[in-house]
Amino acid sequence: MNDSITTRAAGAAPATAQINLRLLADGHGIIESHHGDDEQRFAPPADFAAQANVGAEAYVQASRDRLGFWADQARQLHWHREFTEVLDWSEPPFAKWFADGEINASFNALDRHVLAGNGDHVALLWEGEPGDRRSITYAELLDEVSRLANVLTDLGVEAGDRVAVYLPMIPETIATLLAVARIGAVHSVVFGGFSADSLRARIEDAEAKLVVTADGSWRRGKISPLKPVVDQALAAGTTVEHVLVVRRGGNEVDWQSGRDIWWHEAVPQASAEHEAQGFPAEHPLFILYTSGTTGRPKGILHTTGGYLTQTSYTHRAIFDAKPETDVYWCTADVGWITGHSYVAYAPLINGVTQVIYEGTPDTPDWGRWWQIVERYKVTVLYTAPTAIRSFMKVGRETVLAHDLSSLRLLGSVGEAINPEAWLWYHEVVGSSRAPIVDTWWQTETGAILAAPLPGVTSTKPGSAQRAIPGVALDIVDDAGTPVDPGSGGLLVVNEPWPSMLRGIWKDPKRFVDTYWETFGDRYFAGDGARFDEDGDIWLLGRVDDVMNVSGHRLSTTEIESALVDHHAVAEAGAVGIADETTGQAVIAFVVLKRNQHLVSKSEAEAVLRRHVADLIGAIARPRRVYIVAELPKTRSGKIIRRVLRDLAERRPVGDTTTLADGGVITAITAQIEQASTVKPG
Ligand code: WTA
Repeated sequence: MNDSITTRAAGAAPATAQINLRLLADGHGIIESHHGDDEQRFAPPADFAAQANVGAEAYVQASRDRLGFWADQARQLHWHREFTEVLDWSEPPFAKWFADGEINASFNALDRHVLAGNGDHVALLWEGEPGDRRSITYAELLDEVSRLANVLTDLGVEAGDRVAVYLPMIPETIATLLAVARIGAVHSVVFGGFSADSLRARIEDAEAKLVVTADGSWRRGKISPLKPVVDQALAAGTTVEHVLVVRRGGNEVDWQSGRDIWWHEAVPQASAEHEAQGFPAEHPLFILYTSGTTGRPKGILHTTGGYLTQTSYTHRAIFDAKPETDVYWCTADVGWITGHSYVAYAPLINGVTQVIYEGTPDTPDWGRWWQIVERYKVTVLYTAPTAIRSFMKVGRETVLAHDLSSLRLLGSVGEAINPEAWLWYHEVVGSSRAPIVDTWWQTETGAILAAPLPGVTSTKPGSAQRAIPGVALDIVDDAGTPVDPGSGGLLVVNEPWPSMLRGIWKDPKRFVDTYWETFGDRYFAGDGARFDEDGDIWLLGRVDDVMNVSGHRLSTTEIESALVDHHAVAEAGAVGIADETTGQAVIAFVVLKRNQHLVSKSEAEAVLRRHVADLIGAIARPRRVYIVAELPKTRSGKIIRRVLRDLAERRPVGDTTTLADGGVITAITAQIEQASTVKPG
């Protein structure tokens, strides 16, 4: 423990205080393990360490003066008005960072680079699924964003107003986020795979004034319509005054004159002059809805100064961003937090060139991503374990058919990467050379909280390693007492961090209850974890009823509500079970109403799987829906999902003492056996 960086808190001492300064004082030192024999470790290659943006001294600096460290990172940004306060934590859990400063996100992402003479530097290398391509410089992007900012203002969008965004991965999407931020409005991106119902609920909750969408987008060789979904979402009347539509798919769309506006008719003719004004650091930047433990998604609220500070710092430190030479590619959709922090904001703030790809990795075949890496000479690739596992299934030949020698650094996010996938990623994609940074964080945390520093850390496949400089993580038991290395516990953040969520939209009580109720002014992440003997963190998965399917969060309750919404369904229980490719898969158990004649038992599975996809979106479609006579419950009538999980994974059911009726297990087992002889509907 002595010779390693650790963020374990000792009693009330600042959590970073235990860092061993002596060992780390020599800068890019490589941290050695005492347990080198029983575990594979990968020291950073010497040439990588020698050129890394951030060395081990960052841990030292941050541990000596945590707030000073973050203030230094914040000063890397352009402030319209300098801040004098760093952190105000006088009313936990409502943090204020750099509160008296004023800043503009869009200015930092664009104007700053153009003013510095880098307007001709390429910001976006975009590739559409059918193979069309665009290369957009920082100056061109600023031009487009300025025009759009003027259009938004003309449409009556003001600072503080919410703008819903339902767009595919096209350059206009990045422009939209930056234009909304530029005028101090608040974007709320809804993933393009979500249904009309999900979109409507999010538009209503945020009371959006405007929706930006596209006619449709390319997915798996076909047009996936978007505007029709928006029309459906708005059909029952809303707060939305206008719908701005990008022409992308070329598909026929209905048009509501007065409300609907084509992007290509409005934006090019607007003025390209737009002065970005500063907004207070705590001005809202965006809302992003994510699944919690209830059926109602939470609108996670992020503000400006702290968010930009930590996303851009982590991008420099963990992805080693080099604006002159890097071609960075994060494969996340902008509908998720990763697509906000590490596509729309951090890379542009840091002035790098990034690749954006519209379609799916298997179109026209599984070589597509590797062709893109080869074509644009991608240097840094950031993706999810579920994608890696899909490529493992397809086979290494598909990857190795391409020249990937440009790759110098690889990242992973969304769920724990299993050591097997880590090693494959390292060997096949990274030519056994590129370091891997496994990054742990959440929609709520806004930016990465745990990861290796690629020039410093000896990485261990499967471990998210350690808290980044300036962040204090701990693993505690139910009573909040730190657990011993090796024991599982709950992951908490001991101190506020700049990019932390500032609340749940319109629901401060839920914010307090969800994240702060358990341990007072320490943030509870909802994840289980353990420290190993070296102080490295191993994530153990969610401890609540949140599932993780292909790196996307879904709540069991959300799926159960969708099932029960169907007229034929009396009761439903949903669980996530382990899946080789997607991490988890949704399995549902449904009790049909006794006298219903709407669906036959044989059709029920197909009908209900479709129903969930219609209501929430295709990502939520259960892998299987088992029709059962009864659900396992406690005496007080609560569904015991743990038993359902055991049954679905076909392993012996654990403790059943709380079960009201033991017979239910035999009955469900028989129903699963019977159902598994037929294909899912
Ligand atoms: C999980 C995605 C292990 C975790 C950025 C977390 C991870 C949830 C990792 C957040 C990782 C994300 N190792 N687990 N590297 N990254 N998770 O909000 O359970 O979509 O709480 O944010 O994903 O998912 P979210």
